[in-house]
Amino acid sequence: MTIPERLGLPHAGYGVGLRNVHFAHILNHNPAVDWFEIISENYMDSHGPPRYVLDQIAERYPVVMHGVSLSIGSSDPLDMDYLRKLRSLADSVGSLWVSDHVCWTGIAGLNAHDLLPVPFTEATLRHVIERIRIVQDVLERPLVLENPSTYVTFARSTMTEAEFLTRMATEADCGLLLDVNNVYVSSVNHDLDPQEFIRNLPHERVVQFHLAGHTSYGTHCIDTHDSEVIDPVWDLYRLAHELTGGASTLLEWDAKIPPFPVVHQEVLKAVDRINHRLTPAETMDETPPRPENGFARPDEGTATVPQPATMISAEVE
Ligand SMILES: [Fe+2]
Repeated sequence: MTIPERLGLPHAGYGVGLRNVHFAHILNHNPAVDWFEIISENYMDSHGPPRYVLDQIAERYPVVMHGVSLSIGSSDPLDMDYLRKLRSLADSVGSLWVSDHVCWTGIAGLNAHDLLPVPFTEATLRHVIERIRIVQDVLERPLVLENPSTYVTFARSTMTEAEFLTRMATEADCGLLLDVNNVYVSSVNHDLDPQEFIRNLPHERVVQFHLAGHTSYGTHCIDTHDSEVIDPVWDLYRLAHELTGGASTLLEWDAKIPPFPVVHQEVLKAVDRINHRLTPAETMDETPPRPENGFARPDEGTATVPQPATMISAEVE
């Protein structure tokens, strides 16, 4: 069976994450941004001012819902009340698709308010695939799942993240949200090759890209979403664009948020970056700088899935 590119979903162009600090600017100036991504949970239970603004924006722009609480990897039962609310909001704003992360966010009813990594095992794969099918049945639209930034790996993992995502997306028949900045952050933290990761994904299933800034601490990176996209991430984006044929692109900026025109201009850099041709001195054929943390490269150790030497606690919201 031939899978239509991006599961038949549209290329929405170049969008930005909708944040409250920009509400007035957007409503007053109608900026020429292609689309907005919203954090689903900020609007699911709200019928106050934010929801009123969203309804107006959804009349003017395409909207995509991006969630942080699906917890597709948790061993807790799926929250059917949450899924019904998600479906209701998606119907209301006409969400082109619904996305979340390959992670778990809580256990035993407790919410950790963080995107926690899953072990890449056969058992996790079967568990996640079964749950994706249920979610897609409830939503009656494709679920698109994102690779999170991670700060630890699991000794029990038996496959790479790219293999896990490939088998997950193929067997569950869902889409992928390729966060290029997260690929960079995780590759630095785990001393992996970000280009190899991107080359090994099922490119026809990549529905959307995320771009963002992060903070480098020398030994590791934290996914802070508080600055411009750095050049090595733009290089990875260009590679991903070439391999996928292009997909809807979204800039996330969640801390130290500048005025809307600055955020919008940052995502529009993508157009130039796609067409930018590399000079030999540029970094396309290089892996990220080796972190000074003593991690072994994959070919220096015996494990097929490299493990971090130390635990790095996540500080991102
Ligand atoms: Fe992201």
